[in-house]
Parts: sequence; C-alpha cells; structure tokens
Amino acid sequence: MHVWFLLLVCVLTTIAQDLNTFGIGLSSQWLYPTETEILTHTLAPGSNFGVLTHFWTTGDPAIDQSTFSYYIDGESEPSIQFVTYMLAGAGFNDQTSPWGTKWIGKGAQSGGWYNNFRVPFQKSIRVTGKLPSTVMDKKIIWIIVRGTENLPTSFHGFQLPSNARLTLQKIENQTYDPLAWVRVVDIPTGHGLLLSHTLAVSSGNLNFLEGCYHAYTSHEQQFPGLIVSTGTEDYFDSAFYFNAGQFHFEVSGYSHFRQVSNNSLEWSAYRMHDLDPIFFTNGFRFEWRNGDVVDDRGFKCIVDQGGHVVGSPTQSIVTSYAWVYVW
Ligand SMILES: *[C@@H]1O[C@H](CO)[C@@H](O)[C@H](O)[C@H]1NC(C)=O
Ligand SMILES: *[C@@H]1O[C@H](CO)[C@@H](O)[C@H](O)[C@H]1NC(C)=O
Repeated sequence: MHVWFLLLVCVLTTIAQDLNTFGIGLSSQWLYPTETEILTHTLAPGSNFGVLTHFWTTGDPAIDQSTFSYYIDGESEPSIQFVTYMLAGAGFNDQTSPWGTKWIGKGAQSGGWYNNFRVPFQKSIRVTGKLPSTVMDKKIIWIIVRGTENLPTSFHGFQLPSNARLTLQKIENQTYDPLAWVRVVDIPTGHGLLLSHTLAVSSGNLNFLEGCYHAYTSHEQQFPGLIVSTGTEDYFDSAFYFNAGQFHFEVSGYSHFRQVSNNSLEWSAYRMHDLDPIFFTNGFRFEWRNGDVVDDRGFKCIVDQGGHVVGSPTQSIVTSYAWVYVW
C-alpha cells in the first residue's frame, strides 16, 4: 500500500507539473485604435501543447465593436479574429443580458461577454485587441484571458488530436440574392470537425429561414451532401419560424430579432456542435441557402437549381462565424 501511495503521489505530481495554467487579467486598462497587446504566452520547456480556455471582457461600449486577434504559433496573420458579440453568438451587438451557456454568454448590461472555446497551440499564443477605426481615443477595458499547457480537449468521447487547430471562418456583411448559396465553411483538404456556428442576417422578411443547411463532409461531395437541417430555424433547434420566441439554450440560441422597418429586419442565432460534432475527412464545405425551393412534390432541401420558391425571400446581408477544428 505504501508503494502504491508513493506511485500515486508521483503520478499526480507529474500531471500537476505539466498542467500549467497561464493567463492575464487586466483591470481598467486601455485599448487603443492601434493594435494593443493583451497576452503573449510561450510554452514552458518540456510542454507539448497548450490551449486557451477562457476569454472575457467588458468596458467602454467601443469594446463591443473592437477586434480581438489570436496569433497562434507565431502567425503573422491571426487565424482567429473576432468581435465579442459574434464570439458570443449574438448578432447585431444584441445587448440582451444576462444569459449564458457553458460556452458563451453575456453577464452584464454592458459588456460581460465571455467564451470558453478551446483554442489549441503548439508553441505560443498571442492575443491583441484593437478599437474600431471610427474611434480616435483610447478606451477603458477589463479583460481576462486564460489557458492551460498540456490540457487535452475532448468532446463526449472524442479526443482532439494534439496537433489540431481552431480556425474561424467568417463572412462579414456580404449581400446574397434570394436562393443564393452561402458558403459558411470552405476547407479544401484535411480532417476536422465543426464546433460552432453563428449566423446574423438582415433581410426584407423572414422567408430566408426556409434555407436548409448542407454539410459536405469531403470537399468534393455532391449536392445535397449531408442535409443538416430542414430549414434554418430547425438547425437552431426551433421550428415554424421560431414561433416560441427568443431563447438561449446550451446547444442553440435565437439571440436577436429586430423589425427595423416594414420591409427590413435583423435576426441572429447560434448553434454549438460539441454534442453532435460534424466530422470531415477530406476537406469540408458547409452551406446555407438564403431561402429555399421545393420540388414538384413539395419536398425541400433536395433541389439545387430550379424548383418552386417558398415564400418571397429577398436579398440578405449575411454575417457568419464558423469555428472549425482542423488537423
Ligand atoms: C457590418 O455592418 C454593421 C451594420 O452596419 C456594422 O456595425 C459592422 O461593423 C459591420 N461589420 C463589418 C465587419 O464590417
Ligand atoms: C408599415 O405597414 C403598416 C401596415 O401595413 C402601415 O400602416 C405603415 O404606414 C407602414 N409604414 C411604413 C413606414 O411604410
């Protein structure tokens, strides 16, 4: 028993040494219109990889419009760059609060945005922030960023390879015609999984919600690929144009709606895929459609071109974030 006890202590000590938690908390400091350093962390000698585990910020309202960047392993261009409200799945800087899931949320009336996505790196991670170009002065910020070295990431039985990277694929304020395909993710080669997606749409009416999601789990797969949803609201775990109103679930949320005028509205929603990852093995495309069509029998999601339009979808202005692990 004595020997086993020593062995246990030994093992636990080794693990404790390896799981080095690092990070920063900056209280009432300044964010500038130029890129402002927040955190740089390089792995300790002997560590194999690290992972960011937490991001939180608040401060001047301009913080909400600021751009934050993650430079992974000495990148010159950051592979992850976001604004906080889209990071938290709330399009159009929706200020509804408090709400939260284990992954994302907003815990204060102003700011209080957080995110717990795991962001792996192999050597180093650098985090910066930058005010929007319309702001001339420095603004007050509180920010917390944290991570842990050698901490594996797993999703309900699947362990992320230690060389996996998290990438953010974005569409920002792009205009799409009715029935246009919106390529939310486009990854030509490699393995990976879709972790999370937030869609924010400004449109003439709600008929864009007819659009189905299609996953192409290898890049060259033909239409219809994997039909991921039977309409837009169905993908976000609601139905019938979200007729129960807004919600913030763990796995999905209907996070914003505003009728701007009689012929203009804003809408957003988020979806987490940690419980039902969509894996790919040889590149990946993830596509949404701005409205949709049915075939002669009245079936949707299976007609690529032609077909009968459902309702009267209009042009839409689309912002999309898709968080994808690749390896
Ligand atoms: C998209 O448009 C909105 C509304 O005009 C604006 O607030 C936002 O900054 C724009 N985003 C980008 C990335 O240009
Ligand atoms: C919006 O629609 C209502 C009802 O049809 C109408 O009374 C109102 O004048 C419209 N407003 C505008 C700004 O067009």
